[in-house]
Amino acid sequence: MSISLPKVGFGTYLITNQELEQAIPTALKAGYRHIDTAQVYRNEEGVGFALTKALEDQGLSREDVFITTKVFPGNEARGQSPMTYSDTLNSIEPSLEKLQLDYVDLYLIHAPFCKNERVEQWRALVEIRRLGKAKSIGVSNYNQIHIEEIKSAGLPLPEANQIELHPWCQKTELVSYLNQNDISIIAFSSLVPLSTWRSKEGEKSSKSEQMKADGEDPSSIIKVLANKYRVSVAQILLKWGLQKGYAIIPKSSKQDRIKQNIDLYSFEIDETDMQKLSSINRSDGGVAWPEGDPILIN
Ligand SMILES: NC(=O)c1ccc[n+]([C@@H]2O[C@H](COP(=O)([O-])OP(=O)(O)OC[C@H]3O[C@@H](n4cnc5c(N)ncnc54)[C@H](OP(=O)(O)O)[C@@H]3O)[C@@H](O)[C@H]2O)c1
Repeated sequence: MSISLPKVGFGTYLITNQELEQAIPTALKAGYRHIDTAQVYRNEEGVGFALTKALEDQGLSREDVFITTKVFPGNEARGQSPMTYSDTLNSIEPSLEKLQLDYVDLYLIHAPFCKNERVEQWRALVEIRRLGKAKSIGVSNYNQIHIEEIKSAGLPLPEANQIELHPWCQKTELVSYLNQNDISIIAFSSLVPLSTWRSKEGEKSSKSEQMKADGEDPSSIIKVLANKYRVSVAQILLKWGLQKGYAIIPKSSKQDRIKQNIDLYSFEIDETDMQKLSSINRSDGGVAWPEGDPILIN
């Protein structure tokens, strides 16, 4: 069953605990009501600290915000043991403590790394939801095979799948499978085609380096449409995701960009232009994992 979640969320990967002290209140003031973090981002503490203070300062309550975090399931390719059922069941506790919350709105398995334990890990998430520690549960970087495993085990299906999606990486078959199965789609890394995407030293993705950024190329359709609709290239990429029906979670540590990335309702990309954006699908994503794109794991 799909879930109802705020359409524009705030991504926090590569934002430090200290930067979050400014970024979270700015995001809430700008209107974001969904915050996306993960155990491997090592910033759940910063999210918890900044969120608690910002809710109080801005007169908001816990129920006004939607908080997502993700369990990292282990990965033998990184020398980590796969998480068992009870490891996964217990994994929520330190997250709740760091986030200063009694429950998260959405708890995701970060990636389908553990072939032999995937179903047991999912069973643990079902129990976490039953215990009320997560309102909704889902997966990330899962493909049809991974979700079919859950179906075959007779377990409830994930309520959401968080995956890389932008005009270069459209995953059309997976998207229609998720829609058919009523699984909400949350798009991450919407801004990959920008030259500013993770451009700082230490943030770069080796893969995006090999890709020619379309964002600033005057002949690229993304840039042409940004000029036509008098918005930024980032806004075209984010609006594309919204018009496809996805929830989006752009990240920025800069105040002006945080505001710009949720300012998406003064224009609408017309059908012809949406089709033009569909024509630049490269099928390949820009996010490079050391072990290869997890969505391609069987
Ligand atoms: N589930 C997963 O496996 C997974 C994987 C990747 C990401 N995610 C989630 O999705 C979120 C978003 O993905 P992401 O962080 O990879 O990338 P993103 O949000 O698509 O792009 C962020 C990058 O673009 C820059 N940027 C942001 N707004 C901009 C604007 N308006 N104009 C120009 N440049 C702009 C940012 O730089 P500045 O910060 O300097 O502005 C940063 O380098 C993450 O933060 C995380 O929460 C999940």
